[in-house]
Amino acid sequence: MSVAKKEYKRVTVKSLIEMKQNGEKISMLTSYDYSMAKIVDAANVDVILVGDSASNVIAGHETTLPITLDQMIYHASSVVRAAKRALVVVDIPFGSYQSDSKEALRSAIRIMKESGAHAVKVEGGSEIKESVKRIIGAGIPVMGHLGLTPQSIYKFGTYTVRAKEEQEAQKLKEDAKMLEKLGCFGIVLEKIPAKLAKEVAESVSIPIIGIGAGNGVDGQVLVVHDLLGMTHEFNPRFLRRYMNLYEEMSNAISQYVGDVKSKDFPNEEEQY
Ligand code: KIV
Repeated sequence: MSVAKKEYKRVTVKSLIEMKQNGEKISMLTSYDYSMAKIVDAANVDVILVGDSASNVIAGHETTLPITLDQMIYHASSVVRAAKRALVVVDIPFGSYQSDSKEALRSAIRIMKESGAHAVKVEGGSEIKESVKRIIGAGIPVMGHLGLTPQSIYKFGTYTVRAKEEQEAQKLKEDAKMLEKLGCFGIVLEKIPAKLAKEVAESVSIPIIGIGAGNGVDGQVLVVHDLLGMTHEFNPRFLRRYMNLYEEMSNAISQYVGDVKSKDFPNEEEQY
């Protein structure tokens, strides 16, 4: 069921700002490959994020740190080939933008040129100001990411809720304002108190997309494997599972194994 206030043939960064102005919530979901992105796009998800969470859900790493720029470009180009309506945003991976702003721009340009994506996402606030400025200066749309920023997991030590203390909350509010001023078209807020997220969303004119940040923001993002219940060991409070695909897939695959072993598959109709 669609509750869109306006039909968009192709979602752009401008459409997202318009959605915020019209009070229409923005839907965002990750994808890392062509087949999944085709389904996500056909379901009218507004933004497809080629997240560096591919490092976890696709490659099985414990953190998002190991994924490389080449690997992100590979995932992104597969998603771009599938997305007919959604805006495709790609994470610039850890180590490809933090050291200096020229390297940041080179990484962003490679993503845009080699994958055909529409925008990039970076984690952090004042620490990466120069990089954000330079990428936007080259005409590349940038989305920010504040709160729990998984590329800094070894600094935080845990994946618990961020910005509960006044000092960190204050810095987050200032960083959001700074990213807006630099020209970012949106910001992801991850795992922070709902009250703070709502306050930030009301203080800026660009869309704020939450994950574990409550309902007072302009849109929501989830990792598609979590939403579908393909992952089953990760159970944060903010996650709503719409399917138990882990169980359904396991049952289907077990049946296939049984059918092969019992010589039931293939039958007369399933051969030439
Ligand atoms: O990499 C990712 O999937 C993300 C989302 C969790 C926002 O950054």
